[in-house]
Amino acid sequence: MQALVRHLHGFATEVGLTQDEWGRLIEVLTATGHITDERRQEFILWSDSLGLSMLVDAMANPLPAGATESTVLGPFYVPGAPERGYGESMIGEPAGTPAWVNGRVLDTEGNPIGGAELDVWQNGDDRLYAVQRPEAPEDHLRGRYFTREDGSYAFLAVRPVPYPIPYDGPVGAMLTATGRHPWRPAHIHMIVRAPGYRTVTTHIFDRASEYLDSDAVFAVKPSLMRDFVERSPDDPDRPAAVDGEWVSVENDLVLARASS
Ligand code: BEZ
Ligand code: FE
Repeated sequence: MQALVRHLHGFATEVGLTQDEWGRLIEVLTATGHITDERRQEFILWSDSLGLSMLVDAMANPLPAGATESTVLGPFYVPGAPERGYGESMIGEPAGTPAWVNGRVLDTEGNPIGGAELDVWQNGDDRLYAVQRPEAPEDHLRGRYFTREDGSYAFLAVRPVPYPIPYDGPVGAMLTATGRHPWRPAHIHMIVRAPGYRTVTTHIFDRASEYLDSDAVFAVKPSLMRDFVERSPDDPDRPAAVDGEWVSVENDLVLARASS
């Protein structure tokens, strides 16, 4: 509390905070409370859009060299996604170009980790997550996948598209006032868990996406960018559930031991 008060006073002194500005601050905090409910968390959106979430994440998760880096969780994670088999589709209704995502989960010495869980969620080509659309199938574009003994996993997703963070509230007003845009680059979310290893909350970023250098929540890490390779319908590796153009992406994940 002493550090907080010191910095708060330092801030007010540095900018010469006026009584009107102090009053606006109270209004903004009040509006942030009013717009927040079980589905909308504007306080975390402030933290994300001011870079605080990524700073706290960086301090909480120093990793050994080579381990997959973490990034923001975001507001659209809903626990309890259905368990799905190797290579199974998580597409509940048409949502863009199918994307075959595959790779291995490894430890920092390169040994495979069997039985690791990948809890995956993403948006469709309408830019929305299923949780933002009451009419969407509940388990659309989300699923929990487990690695095989050799550490391999695969699932069918869609190529993600960039989307704006919710900007119809106080955070949106701040972005407009400061000349910032609300967009996030295209990504797929996952939380990777395995007994004896540190859980990592991460993304796969599409290396070809817009906004990689100006993510509204400062969550891009170059090590998490991957190539989404365009594939033709007559490619012999085409997954059975696909009948047109598709893309594929390879993404190995490296977990740090719980003790590290
Ligand atoms: C997301 O990637 O889902 C997200 C992260 C932070 C704020 C808004 C959305
Ligand atoms: Fe997201």
